[in-house]
Amino acid sequence: MDRDKPCPYILFMINKIIYRFNQFWFGMSARYTKADEAFARTYLNIEESSLFNQLPGFEKKHAVVVARKMLALARLHPELDQNKLVKLGLLHDIGKVAEKNSVLTKSILVIIRFFLPWLYDRLADSGETHSFFRRFYIHKHHGAVGAQLLEKIGETSEILSIIAKHDPRIEPFGPEDPLELKLLQQADSTY
Ligand SMILES: [Fe+2]
Ligand SMILES: [Fe+2]
Repeated sequence: MDRDKPCPYILFMINKIIYRFNQFWFGMSARYTKADEAFARTYLNIEESSLFNQLPGFEKKHAVVVARKMLALARLHPELDQNKLVKLGLLHDIGKVAEKNSVLTKSILVIIRFFLPWLYDRLADSGETHSFFRRFYIHKHHGAVGAQLLEKIGETSEILSIIAKHDPRIEPFGPEDPLELKLLQQADSTY
């Protein structure tokens, strides 16, 4: 092994830390603007908007950024329904309305997941039944929680299943999964 070259694992971890720091900085500094609000209103109906508006500002901003990327990806895939792709971007993290976190709280959850994944998983499992750890449960399972919320306002089963599975940490992309899910995961992988 070449001793002068840094270990790939260390490079991977450094990249991850830089990514998370940038994500934190984006959350602290990005503002949900009037233009973002108008963009979301164009694609969401009244019930969807009412749920969407319960998200904290930085999560709404993230959703609009993902939705704009979906719009750009839709142009490369004219065979797909553009409105559906944008709507998936806007609603993919809607489960986070069940436990609204500040940027700081969210960062703490992400740090625990990064450095102590076993503890994060244990607390998330406990949070299903213990309200004290509910924040961990919602953070880990926000895809499934979001699908439950969206089912109540009559979203299609296709949208529900894509949103439930959007986090590849919970369930990796499979050969039977639709292209829309792959595009959503691609758009969601940057902040
Ligand atoms: Fe998510
Ligand atoms: Fe997301």
